[in-house]
Amino acid sequence: MSTNRTITVELGDRSYPIVIGRGLLGGDFALAKYSAGNDCLIVSNETVAPLYLQQLKADLDGCSIDVLELPDGEEFKTIETATHVLDRLVQARAGRDTTVIALGGGVVGDITGFAAACYMRGVAFIQVPTTLLAQVDSSVGGKTRGKQPQGKNLIGAFHQPKMGLIDTETLDTVPDRELRAGLAEVIKYGAIADKTFFAWLEANMDALLAKDPDALAHAVQRSCEIKAEVVADDEREAGRRAILNFGHTFGHAIEHCQGYGDWLHGEAVAAGMVMAGELSGLGAGDATRLRNLVASAGLPTAPPPAESKALLDAMGLDKKVQQKQLRFVLLRVLGEAYVTSDYNETRLLNILEAAD
Ligand SMILES: NC(=O)c1ccc[n+]([C@@H]2O[C@H](COP(=O)([O-])OP(=O)(O)OC[C@H]3O[C@@H](n4cnc5c(N)ncnc54)[C@H](O)[C@@H]3O)[C@@H](O)[C@H]2O)c1
Ligand SMILES: [Zn+2]
Repeated sequence: MSTNRTITVELGDRSYPIVIGRGLLGGDFALAKYSAGNDCLIVSNETVAPLYLQQLKADLDGCSIDVLELPDGEEFKTIETATHVLDRLVQARAGRDTTVIALGGGVVGDITGFAAACYMRGVAFIQVPTTLLAQVDSSVGGKTRGKQPQGKNLIGAFHQPKMGLIDTETLDTVPDRELRAGLAEVIKYGAIADKTFFAWLEANMDALLAKDPDALAHAVQRSCEIKAEVVADDEREAGRRAILNFGHTFGHAIEHCQGYGDWLHGEAVAAGMVMAGELSGLGAGDATRLRNLVASAGLPTAPPPAESKALLDAMGLDKKVQQKQLRFVLLRVLGEAYVTSDYNETRLLNILEAAD
């Protein structure tokens, strides 16, 4: 087993560690010392539990463990599913010192975190993310959510975990398409905050796609470091944290037009980043590098054929709209992002019309 790496998300008295390593699950990592008390509820799903539940249980030596398996799928990321988690806690008469543990991808993490935030106004929560997207993004930073049919991400809570346990070996079983979707968020970190990391990704994309353990470990670590640093700076998204939404205004619109599900979140964000790069008016070199890196990860660089109006309408529903003015995360250069409502409208319409 390679050496573990620990990143601290610095949030005052809510600071917490993210431990990254290969083979952590079912190894000799003592997870129980991070639980609030003796009682743990592990929430996973029907796909991930058969793969990793036993190993996780072994790391919780001495704890009394209850398990809830959810159905698998983005369509189950609903308030109703979160209610199942809450019902289980109520039925078990779970106390204030219960620890709720999410074992799975972003869907399990979001639902479980939301339930942990609601139960008794917040009980201890541990993230054990098992997809690349969850390891580098959804498990870091304390945003949790359910979803309503009317719109995405309108209902949620900030609830920081007590710790994050990232076993990069779990990526061995992640389907290739899901891995590529996670790479979209990894590329995002390079694009918004670290041009050296961006260049590293250009040089190592083949290794990442081949699931090279060292390459994956570095990508996960650097991504978590960047997200942790941005979140520590602006936990509640009063300002800078919004740069993490690079590519997401377009991406959410694509997901909306597609009716959630046809495109994975990361795929929509990938095309969205290329579009946001174009709206940024990046120099030709930077715009081409962004497009090429996205393409080299096997991700889409343009939205699916759709009416430009449908995309714009979908953007009107985006939560980043403030006073009916769209806000975008744009790049000054690769590695430097800013949030603005002052964008080139003609350029925006041209980008959307290219989608027709
Ligand atoms: N809270 C946040 O800050 C935040 C940030 C980004 C994304 N998200 C949310 O995260 C969700 C997407 O997360 P995701 O991409 O992890 O999707 P997901 O949770 O649906 O996982 C993708 C698929 O992989 C399966 N899976 C998970 N781990 C596996 C493993 N190790 N081996 C084999 N299969 C495995 C899952 O069961 C699922 O079928 C979206 O709902 C998105 O809105 C939240
Ligand atoms: Zn995202």
